[in-house]
Amino acid sequence: MRVGIAADHGGFELKQKIAEALRAAKYEVADFGAFQLIPGDDYPDLVIPLAKAVDRKEVERGVAICGSGVGACVAANKIPGVRAALICDVFSAHQGVEDDDMNLICLGGRVTGYALAWDLIQTFLQARFIGEERHRRRLGKIAALENIAESG
Ligand code: RB5
Repeated sequence: MRVGIAADHGGFELKQKIAEALRAAKYEVADFGAFQLIPGDDYPDLVIPLAKAVDRKEVERGVAICGSGVGACVAANKIPGVRAALICDVFSAHQGVEDDDMNLICLGGRVTGYALAWDLIQTFLQARFIGEERHRRRLGKIAALENIAESG
């Protein structure tokens, strides 16, 4: 699986460790930066290119990390086709995919430690959308909003 990853300064250190762990676990990693710790960088500059890559299916799943995970989540969800969530627990890491087809996980580098972050990411990456009618119906209602926004 090809996985995209991005972080601002608040998530930089965690991103470096997670990218290394993903490569060691044989995932193909597309790193959208930051490539060095720049204390004044802005999470939309890192997260939006990742989110666009998720929407275009250039990567199958995305991992976005900022200080709290909140800004990354807000930014990623502005891109149509992206279903991002800030995840702090294992249940949501898989249920978010199974029921809601979450394709981008957001984490807080100042909130979630490496060991839990890695468990959450592995859980997220191994989960699959169940795709029952009720799931598709609900997602269709969200996609309809995106279509309205895109056509103005
Ligand atoms: C940057 O200091 C911080 O605000 C950002 O990483 C993130 O936590 C925003 O949600």
